[in-house]
Amino acid sequence: MGGTNPYIQKADYELPHVAYTVTFIAPGGVKTKVEVDPTKIPYGPTGLPGSLLDVAMGNGILLEHVCGGVCACSTCHVIVKQGLESCNEGTDDEFDQLEEAPITTLQSRLGCQCVANGTKDIVVEIPAVNKNLVKEGH
Ligand code: FES
Repeated sequence: MGGTNPYIQKADYELPHVAYTVTFIAPGGVKTKVEVDPTKIPYGPTGLPGSLLDVAMGNGILLEHVCGGVCACSTCHVIVKQGLESCNEGTDDEFDQLEEAPITTLQSRLGCQCVANGTKDIVVEIPAVNKNLVKEGH
């Protein structure tokens, strides 16, 4: 599912011009490193083009995205452990949504709203507490 959310501030971001890598650290610690090819962005219709969610989905990485990548939940919460300085600034709407995540850090972002410009390689942790409560029947 993809789309746009007319109720939020439009995020400002710069797409990469060169290839860079994103290393996803899954809950449990398994690391998967993927190369982002700027010519393949967007990988799909979900999240901002080139967002960490877009990159994850385009490379078979499981990252929850209950609202379909439109900044209306917090299930795509990620912790950007390296390369955050090459990512777009989060909007107030993004940080408002992040407050709904169970645990956040100063490096927390919504995967669907965080777009790297390709000047740094990125390392992101997918927190173990990112749960899709609907799916899990709570
Ligand atoms: S998928 Fe819902 S805020 Fe990112």
